[in-house]
Amino acid sequence: MNTALLAERIDGKGFAATLVNQLTDEVNDIKAATGLTPGLAVVLVGEDPASSVYVSAKHRQTLAIGMQSFVHRLPADTAQADLMTLLDALNAANEVNGILVQLPLPAHLDTHAVINAIDPDKDVDGFHILNAGRLATGQDALVPCTPLGCLMMLKDRLGNLEGLNAVVVGKSNIVGKPMAQLLMAENCTVSVAHSKSRDVPALCRSADILVVAAGCPELVKGDWIKPGAVVIDVGINRIERDGRSRIVGDVAFDEAGHAAAITPVPGGVGPMTIACLLANTVTAFKRQHHHVTTKAVVAV
Ligand code: GUN
Repeated sequence: MNTALLAERIDGKGFAATLVNQLTDEVNDIKAATGLTPGLAVVLVGEDPASSVYVSAKHRQTLAIGMQSFVHRLPADTAQADLMTLLDALNAANEVNGILVQLPLPAHLDTHAVINAIDPDKDVDGFHILNAGRLATGQDALVPCTPLGCLMMLKDRLGNLEGLNAVVVGKSNIVGKPMAQLLMAENCTVSVAHSKSRDVPALCRSADILVVAAGCPELVKGDWIKPGAVVIDVGINRIERDGRSRIVGDVAFDEAGHAAAITPVPGGVGPMTIACLLANTVTAFKRQHHHVTTKAVVAV
């Protein structure tokens, strides 16, 4: 079945561009009102090529909206104590409003300890245990960027999500779990499927909203998708097909024509993630400077 032309493509790239324009204006307003420039620090340990590309993109886009960017590239054998010392310095630095440690970390480092060493008010990834707890209990939190971007696109497409059946495929701390929390906060009926779940296709077929973050190329087939569902594909997988390398998502896009709408890969969720990181940095700045009263760009 190749009916992909029927489903509306959700234009994450365009959505992100609009958000970035709003953030650029907001950063200008902040500079004019305070004389200060919001700053984001990104820490990369090791030389994983994909992580290195992501970090460079974050640096470029942070500068492009007029913020300060501080990138720390550390060797793969960096000791836990040295990384903690750097985080202490970034926590204390007034010009740093947001801190992100690129994951995954090399295996000898304790990821939970590293994340929880970040000042929760500068934790623009929203991974700190305090922000995860705040999100889970309906308190003001910094929210992980990828699920935040997914939620913004869902609300833009569907308006009120109340009462809808939402299925999240994948239960990672970065996407699946916070995505489920955000959808519950919108009063969806939420199920989370994972590699040990029984009959994932049947569960997916119950979904009005299907968010797939499984890290498995084209896992979700056309007949797993309910007609009229809105599908958010978080996957970014490089595969070889017909003798050439290409990027595909976790959903068989060409089989999803009977969905109401679907995010393409690339050009869907990916661009929204960095835009939301920038938005979280502006949010963090504003919370650290209570007197700044510019209008919020991101409200969820
Ligand atoms: N690695 C993959 N996605 C992410 C993310 O959203 N934040 C961080 N820090 N690392 C990642």
